[in-house]
Amino acid sequence: MGPWDINQRLTTERLILRRWRPADWKPFAALNGDAHVMEYFSRVLSREESDALARRIDEPFDRHGFGLWAVEVPGVAAFAGFVGLSVPRFAAHFTPCVEVGWRLAEEYWGRGYATEGARAALAFGFEELGLREIVSFTVPENLRSRRVMEKIGMAHDPADDFDHPGVPGRKRHVLYRLANRAVQSREPRG
Ligand SMILES: CC(C)(COP(=O)(O)OP(=O)(O)OC[C@H]1O[C@@H](n2cnc3c(N)ncnc32)[C@H](O)[C@@H]1OP(=O)(O)O)[C@@H](O)C(=O)NCCC(=O)NCCS
Repeated sequence: MGPWDINQRLTTERLILRRWRPADWKPFAALNGDAHVMEYFSRVLSREESDALARRIDEPFDRHGFGLWAVEVPGVAAFAGFVGLSVPRFAAHFTPCVEVGWRLAEEYWGRGYATEGARAALAFGFEELGLREIVSFTVPENLRSRRVMEKIGMAHDPADDFDHPGVPGRKRHVLYRLANRAVQSREPRG
């Protein structure tokens, strides 16, 4: 992989996906402290925990040249949350893999931002990085997130469901996959 410009931005019709800035940490802490945003996670985060997460999110940009980009909506929000690609650290039947993920402040939900940002992240993963597959996962109850996965063309096979080793209680998760058609079509058949 690489060499990618780690400060590279992805732009869509309405969004800029960019590297994080110090000013993002405060609104990030606000959304991580919102019980509705964190409904399907074990709990809300304190300011310190949110800052630690922001620091962890920033690391892969140097290592991989991509990550969970900060989402800016010009004219609407300097920071609305994150959308991007990450490499899960836990081991499961589908790892190693690259995951597409998202978390937005509630005031920006329902406008198609997650879907729009995720499509740009997928295009980057498939076209720039040449990934064979991108996955996404969540708890079965997170219908909003599953809807985004469906809208971006991902498919769910119940046989892929797994007990997440990285979350308390090893909660059951649904796995969605999307294959890179360009890579598949280059492979020999039969
Ligand atoms: C998941 C999340 C990023 C979606 O962001 P968003 O910008 O609102 O997503 P979009 O607008 O692109 O699409 C949301 C879809 O979910 C649908 N939806 C919303 N509430 C829903 C519900 N309760 N049940 C089913 N579908 C629902 C919307 O109607 C929309 O689908 P549509 O375009 O077919 O109408 C946002 O809700 C969020 O940040 N949630 C909290 C964090 C989180 O759960 N992250 C994912 C962890 S895996």
